Amino acid sequence: MSRIEAPRDEDTETTGSLRDRLLTGLPAEAVLTDPDVTASYANDMASFCDAGTPAVVVLPRTVEQVQHVMRVATELRVPVVPQGARTGLSGAANASDGCVVLSLVKMDRILEINPVDRIAVVEPGVVNAALSRAVGEHGLYYPPDPSSWETCTIGGNIGTASGGLCCVKYGVTAEYVLGLDVVLADGRLMSTGRRTAKGVAGYDLTRLFVGSEGSLGIVVRAVLALKPQPPAQLVLAAEFASARAACDAVCRIMEGGHVPSLLELMDRTTVKAVNDLAHMGLPETTEALLLAAFDTHDPAADLALVGALCEAAGATQVVPAEDAAESELLLQARRLSLTALEAVKGTTMIDDVCVPRSRLGDMLDGIERVAEKYALTIGVCAHAGDGNTHPTVCFDAADPDESRRARESFDEIMALGLELGGTITGEHGVGVLKKEWLAREIGPVGLEMQRAIKTAFDPLGLLNPGKLF
Ligand code: LAC
Ligand code: ZN
Repeated sequence: MSRIEAPRDEDTETTGSLRDRLLTGLPAEAVLTDPDVTASYANDMASFCDAGTPAVVVLPRTVEQVQHVMRVATELRVPVVPQGARTGLSGAANASDGCVVLSLVKMDRILEINPVDRIAVVEPGVVNAALSRAVGEHGLYYPPDPSSWETCTIGGNIGTASGGLCCVKYGVTAEYVLGLDVVLADGRLMSTGRRTAKGVAGYDLTRLFVGSEGSLGIVVRAVLALKPQPPAQLVLAAEFASARAACDAVCRIMEGGHVPSLLELMDRTTVKAVNDLAHMGLPETTEALLLAAFDTHDPAADLALVGALCEAAGATQVVPAEDAAESELLLQARRLSLTALEAVKGTTMIDDVCVPRSRLGDMLDGIERVAEKYALTIGVCAHAGDGNTHPTVCFDAADPDESRRARESFDEIMALGLELGGTITGEHGVGVLKKEWLAREIGPVGLEMQRAIKTAFDPLGLLNPGKLF
């Protein structure tokens, strides 16, 4: 009789050799393998997206260490999932089974702030708000401001092409990324773009990386454009008896050539949820609350003009904030919207369909019809000035029927967005959540070209596999 062997735990062996190889170029404290710890890096903030179990989490502090991680991953054919603060909303940072989670949060240095060139050079782990404050000390402004700005990282913002509240005037992250240093899948270091005001040398690989969700390479340094710091913004709150009337006001404001520094909408469900969570005393009788702001030298005068347009569109109340502090409170209420909606039924699916702003009223009416059809609560807040809606399906995940209806309504909202000439995602990205929908938006030829680009950068398919398409 041949000897009976103890069963081999191949997973443990593989992880062991992966860990040993990583430790040849990383300090011990930068390589985490305790399953309880690594499990805590499994997902971002999107509900209902599959997440695997990471084999290892690495926390490099230098470009060379990132290069080492990618060389080891290529050598051992191990997938790598890059992560920032994991505040994303599409599952783009979710781990895959047996992967190396490459967390960039320890690379958090601001390397340069240059007021003459109006740029900052940063590592990917710099927190958005930390950068905003640092450049503010030089009289400068880094506009992109996702609601998670106090915790999200610039690397994550670049990976997901984040937007925020300021975009109606200042645009999205893509407009501020001038150049990048990127570690490629095989460990080579590539520089893209520029630190000059202009530059058209070759294909715009910088732009290609913005929104690529870590699927093409690891961003280890970014050159970011800055603006002069504008005056503090003053906010106006306008109440409407219907979402349609609020959308009409948005159209009048934009058509009138006004340039608000934000133009946000919260529907009745969202307002009530925020009041319930934070007792902010927002008006609960309104069907839609529109927040408009100006950061000009005479914001009160600009708000007066916009207030008149809101009244012409049927606003029942128009209340300008008294000062910057009251303005900030209104913005805080808006930023709390999604957290507040989560408390309504315990779980949410957050959409971010963006339509041409002239179709915003149709979009909001359509969302209401979807909510009725599926007998669900769908709260909506929106970057109204961008036509970018966040229909948020509130449901009880323990109820299978409600969960099914939530998913179906979510899909129907994306279909509606496409019908209205919009996109399935204005700012949260495709990740895992909207994978099936990317092909529907860009079509087979577009998809083929996207795959070809992916293969050019990542022939072994190791970088954030299973995301996007
Ligand atoms: C917001 C995030 C969810 O607008 O995009 O609050
Ligand atoms: Zn948003």
